[in-house]
Amino acid sequence: MNTPSSKSLISDVPKISSLRIFLLSIVTLSLLIFLWTIGSLKKDPFVTETLSIQGDSLSGSKLFKINCVGCHGISAQGLVGPDLHEVTEQLSDKKIINQVIRGLTPPMPSFEIDPHSMADLLAYMHSLDQ
Ligand code: HEC
Repeated sequence: MNTPSSKSLISDVPKISSLRIFLLSIVTLSLLIFLWTIGSLKKDPFVTETLSIQGDSLSGSKLFKINCVGCHGISAQGLVGPDLHEVTEQLSDKKIINQVIRGLTPPMPSFEIDPHSMADLLAYMHSLDQ
């Protein structure tokens, strides 16, 4: 009497555990996708807000003189960091913003600035093109 029931138990175990693994993978995967989505949504408001602001290149140049000339030169001609005169033609505004606030390429640090100052800096960099 014992034999059939223990047999069925044995054959049930693998089914349950592979279903569990399957479900766990799905849960983990959706969690990762969820976190990734949150992560990319979280980044964008700063960029969106900055791009919605009409920056002032004069206050941008002041910000630049305080924060950036040490590496990019007094007139952004390049020093430790590259010349920025054509940077707005080479990189999208979004990339430039990320460059400044995220510290993607050491030794350039990340800057904690508000969208308004970022818009001013961006306007300054655009003014270098002309
Ligand atoms: C500690 C030095 C340092 C400071 C301070 C600094 N940068 Fe940089 N920056 C660099 C270096 C080095 C690079 C090149 C990184 C690389 O190799 O891609 C760079 C790259 C950049 C780029 C991309 C240029 C390109 O052609 O890819 C931009 C835009 C930029 N910096 C803007 C700024 C602004 C705006 C500030 C001030 C808020 C600033 N940087 C402050 C060192 C610095």
